[in-house]
Amino acid sequence: MSVGRGRFITFEGIDGAGKSTHIQALAERFRRRGADVVCTREPGGTALAEKLRELVLHAPMDALTEALLVFAARRDHVQQLVAPALARGATVVCDRFTDATFAYQGSGRGFNSAVLAQLETWVHGSVQPQLTFWLDLPAQTAAHRRAVARAADRFESEDLRFFERVRAGYAARMEHAPERIVRIDSSLERGAVWAQIESELERRAW
Ligand code: TYD
Repeated sequence: MSVGRGRFITFEGIDGAGKSTHIQALAERFRRRGADVVCTREPGGTALAEKLRELVLHAPMDALTEALLVFAARRDHVQQLVAPALARGATVVCDRFTDATFAYQGSGRGFNSAVLAQLETWVHGSVQPQLTFWLDLPAQTAAHRRAVARAADRFESEDLRFFERVRAGYAARMEHAPERIVRIDSSLERGAVWAQIESELERRAW
């Protein structure tokens, strides 16, 4: 498996960071330029991975089971959808990927990150995003935004301290991959958030 000729872009952030609208806008921007764009999400993106998503989001389980299910879903997703799309030259835009596992299962739940790194190598060693937008905002602000949205799943019902740990997990990931992960200040209004995303794309001549 390799990234082939395509581009692999991911979006990350704590729940309530507002990824969805910007993912749509980014996909539109590439489509207007004639790109073959595949929008997908994790956990999910294939029939099997969507079934696993249901379990991960709603069935009680321990941190190891959670991590294994997330990686099982990712394995199917990468093999069935992401790798073939990249091989044919598509632009793949994915709502969350392995950074979320390090942030949620690693930092949030306290699961061993060396084991997660091993699983990452087994599951999708050479298939890695070239660009990741980390939509960052304080846990408290995100909690206010979530309060006006829909019913909470297993992650969304976690307390502020959990989301502070997840946020710190993303910051740590960024330190390891400063060229790939771009921090976007997501506490601003929507237009100002999009402007930061667009300026990074322009900087890369994408
Ligand atoms: P999310 O992407 O926020 O979708 P929605 O906008 O529909 O709520 O929800 C997915 C949840 O799954 C989110 O709370 C984070 C969690 N998650 C993990 O814990 N680990 C992972 O590796 C991934 C991909 C997601």
